Amino acid sequence: MSKFMSPVWAADIFVGKVVLCTGGAGDICSAQVSALVQLGANAAIIGRRKEKTESKAAEIQSLRAGSKVIGISADVRDFKAMSAAVERTVAELGRIDYVICGAAGNFLATIQNLSANAFKAVIDIDVLGSYNTVKAALDEIKKNRGKILFVSATLHYNGLPYQAHVSAAKAAIDALSQVLCVEMGPYGVTSNCIAPGPISGTEGMARLSRADILESMTKNVPLQHFGEVKDVADATIFLFSPAGDFISGDVIVVDGGAWHRQGTA
Ligand code: HXC
Repeated sequence: MSKFMSPVWAADIFVGKVVLCTGGAGDICSAQVSALVQLGANAAIIGRRKEKTESKAAEIQSLRAGSKVIGISADVRDFKAMSAAVERTVAELGRIDYVICGAAGNFLATIQNLSANAFKAVIDIDVLGSYNTVKAALDEIKKNRGKILFVSATLHYNGLPYQAHVSAAKAAIDALSQVLCVEMGPYGVTSNCIAPGPISGTEGMARLSRADILESMTKNVPLQHFGEVKDVADATIFLFSPAGDFISGDVIVVDGGAWHRQGTA
């Protein structure tokens, strides 16, 4: 059984499909791409750090004999670089069916300690980066009646301290996805978000968690444990598979029910 997904999916669902994923060398996105590749897809992952991105691409490619996974170093804030990444993906892999916008930035800072440049850095990576990615790949997605997926969050469902920058960014991403759902639906294109909650073993959790609050965070999850990257990958497979064809403009929250208790003792 794969550590990236539940053993319920047909092994060939994504044969002939290509996914382009930003933030693809990160913990959550690499699990999403790994699962898709194991089920037949080829992939391009995009990240800022060349060596990390290329070595993660090679690692994912090794999961299935005959698969092709390329690592492209580019900054999502740079539209020209994203256009070039899309061009290279189409040249090397033939097409793009699915786009995952997963590149994100985060750190804990109160609004009083958040400089204008720090706020802008996260908005630029998350919001402008997502726009750049979708915009650069839009013709391909439209041509292939493809699917767009944003990695959002639940932080902005209520006022979470230390997260003004990320909350504003993720709210914008949810809104962008809704508009894409409506504008691109007539072309057979879907757009959705997945909002992961606390997922163990990720850089995001490491950045956000202090040892003293981990225990209370766990208790705040109705299911009483953190999620795994495979939980996010399973939701991704569902949305990209034919089982998800009629779902658009939605947010699938993968958090064990945690956001329903966010802010409660
Ligand atoms: C306050 C900070 C800071 C911190 C950076 N800054 N870290 N301010 N507290 N801890 C400020 C800097 O001082 C600077 O402002 C501004 O942010 C830009 O910093 P740079 O380092 O120049 O920017 P850049 O290299 O572009 O880095 C972007 C970044 C960085 C967001 C700051 O952390 C990053 O690249 N992160 C990517 C990886 C990541 O965060 N992954 C986890 C995503 S998890 P000044 O004013 O000094 O110029 C996630 C999940 C959310 O998103 C949901 C979880 C449940």
